[in-house]
Amino acid sequence: MKSFIAQLPKAELHLHIEGTFEPSLMFEIANRNNISIPFNSVEEIEKAYKFDCLQDFLDIYYQGAGVLIHEQDFYDLTYSYLEKCAAQNVRHTEIMFDPQTHTERGVSFDTVINGIVRACEDAKEKLGVSSLLIMSYLRHLSEEAAFETLKHSLPHKEKITAIGLDSSEKGNPPSKFKNVFEASVKEGYIPLAHAGEEGDADYVWEAIDILGIKRIDHGNNSLQDDKLVEEIVKRDLALTVCPLSNTALQVVKDLKEHPLKIMMDKGLNVTINSDDPAYFGGQVNKNYEEIHEALDLTKEDLYKLAKNSFKYSLLDEETKQKYIDELESFYKENK
Ligand code: ADE
Ligand code: ZN
Repeated sequence: MKSFIAQLPKAELHLHIEGTFEPSLMFEIANRNNISIPFNSVEEIEKAYKFDCLQDFLDIYYQGAGVLIHEQDFYDLTYSYLEKCAAQNVRHTEIMFDPQTHTERGVSFDTVINGIVRACEDAKEKLGVSSLLIMSYLRHLSEEAAFETLKHSLPHKEKITAIGLDSSEKGNPPSKFKNVFEASVKEGYIPLAHAGEEGDADYVWEAIDILGIKRIDHGNNSLQDDKLVEEIVKRDLALTVCPLSNTALQVVKDLKEHPLKIMMDKGLNVTINSDDPAYFGGQVNKNYEEIHEALDLTKEDLYKLAKNSFKYSLLDEETKQKYIDELESFYKENK
């Protein structure tokens, strides 16, 4: 099954570029920028990646991102992730970036986006991996700060497809960002958000009703409320599920208890993603492999998950169909 998963054409729809920062690249960039990090070796960094909850992880994640200063740093980070996509048959990816993680430290919005976009363009040409960008607002900051980010983004509007909402969920409900989401949608951005990762089902209700999101990042706690599940199915909103993230952040105790199969059985459309692969022990294919093993998924389940990854992407219908055709012909020959 490992080789079936490896060859399966797929898209990744839930990925934070700052969460792809591998310890070896972190050392390399920290050295060239003369920034000291509180670790002496890759092994020491990896040992520090033990988390009790989302906030535990976020503290380390923001610290790691602190070594990214120049456009080339953002380029190297992004290109390195896109090379991994190519190696895993990820044909298309929708990359989240957190501008405020960098602008708060004095790095300009332009530096961040120019490095990321240049890497995406090169990867499209050299590796054949397509990508779209999702600009994510940090929910632990104010709505006013998100408005500031929206303003910075406008000269780059054509390069950004969607907006997201991430960071510390509990205590920062979607409704806090109602106005900035409305303004972002007016600018042409598609609204997405993390909801129901640590927050309860009422946060998912707010995200779909108040922010009008078109896809739910995580969404695990939607299962607390049958009416919500019904509504998500009715509105045909996909959930971007991240199995290894869920166990790393103790959202789910053990992969064997992961609700992915229950979600599928309830008619929810789900996809498999890596979230922050450098921190959670595996790229997207490892997420497919481990969840397959834990839940005894069939080849058909894996095919459905990969199909959803294209179907619920933000690509135009024609491009989606091209990728789905490729997936279907692979599946016909390998099922
Ligand atoms: N930022 C990066 N990864 C995240 C996650 N899993 N949840 C919320 N914010 C994040
Ligand atoms: Zn995430």
